[in-house]
Amino acid sequence: MSIPSFGLGTFRLQGQTVIDSVRNGLEVGYRAIDTAQIYDNEADVGKALAGSGVARGDIFLTTKIWIDNLSRGKLIPSLRESLAKLGTDHVDLTLIHWPSPNGAVPLAESLEALLEAREQGLTRQIGVSNFPIALLQQAIDIAGKDNIATNQVEISPYLQNRKLAAFAREQGVHLTSYMTLAYGKVLKDPVLAAIAAAHGATTAQVALAWALQQGYAVIPSSTKRENLASNLAAQKLVLSEAELAQIATLDRNERQADPEGLSPAWD
Ligand SMILES: NC(=O)c1ccc[n+]([C@@H]2O[C@H](COP(=O)([O-])OP(=O)(O)OC[C@H]3O[C@@H](n4cnc5c(N)ncnc54)[C@H](OP(=O)(O)O)[C@@H]3O)[C@@H](O)[C@H]2O)c1
Repeated sequence: MSIPSFGLGTFRLQGQTVIDSVRNGLEVGYRAIDTAQIYDNEADVGKALAGSGVARGDIFLTTKIWIDNLSRGKLIPSLRESLAKLGTDHVDLTLIHWPSPNGAVPLAESLEALLEAREQGLTRQIGVSNFPIALLQQAIDIAGKDNIATNQVEISPYLQNRKLAAFAREQGVHLTSYMTLAYGKVLKDPVLAAIAAAHGATTAQVALAWALQQGYAVIPSSTKRENLASNLAAQKLVLSEAELAQIATLDRNERQADPEGLSPAWD
C-alpha cells in the first residue's frame, strides 16, 4: 500500500467548477483526487468521476473526516455518507482532517473508528492531517506507524516545516504536502522563477518538483486545464542539489492555512 505521489486538490472548488477541474484532471492524466467532507463537493466529485469513463479501480480517492464527526458514534456513519456522495463503496484513503480542537474527542477514539472503517472495507488506508510532531507521536503510539499512511500538512518553499519533516523521516511516516504553491504565492518568487527559466519550466513545476524530490506527495489544485497539465509534468523535472539548496533558503515560516480555533500548536 502506498500513496500516489501526484494528486489533484479540490479545496474551495464546488459545483460545475469542481466537476470541470476533476474531469480535466482525469483527461490530462491525474489518477488521484483529494476531497474532504468540509469542502462540500463530494457529490460533485462523485459526478465527475462517474461521468469520466475512468474505472474506479484506476482512481485513488481521498476524503477527510471533519472535526464534528470524529467521535466513535459519528465517524463511520459520516464516512458512509461521504461514500454515498462520492458514488463509491470505498475510498482509498481517509484522513482525520484536523486534530480534534482541545482534544475534545480523544485521538484514540477517532483512530480506532478509522481502523474499524478500514476493517469494514470502507477505506483502504487511513491517516492524519495537520498533525504536528506531538500529535503525530501520539497517533503512532496509538495506531502504530504502519497504520498511518500519511500526514497531510502544509509544506511549500515558504513553509518548509523542517522539524516535522525530520521527525516524520526518522519515524518512517510519509508526508503529503498541501498548498505546495502556497495558494499561488510562491509563483512570483524570483529564485524559483530563475530556476524555472534555466529548465524551460514553469515556476509551479519547480515548487512541485522540489516537494516531490523530498519524497512528499503533492496535490495542487487548478481550475485551468493548462495548469493542471503543466503541473502534472513537474514529475519529469529534476532539480540539482544546488537548486534544492537555493530553494531551502526561501523558508520563511509563512503559513497559509492557520484557522483560528482549529490550528494545533505548530512545531
Ligand atoms: N488537509 C488540509 O487541511 C488542507 C488544507 C488546504 C489544502 N488542502 C488540499 O491541498 C490542495 C492544494 O491546496 P490549494 O488548492 O489550497 O492551493 P495550491 O495548490 O497551493 O494553489 C492553488 C492555486 O494556485 C493556482 N495555480 C495552480 N497551478 C498553477 C499554475 N501552474 N500556474 C499558475 N497558477 C496556478 C490556482 O489557480 P488556477 O485555478 O487559476 O490555476 C489556485 O489559485 C487543496 O485543493 C486541498 O485538496 C488540504
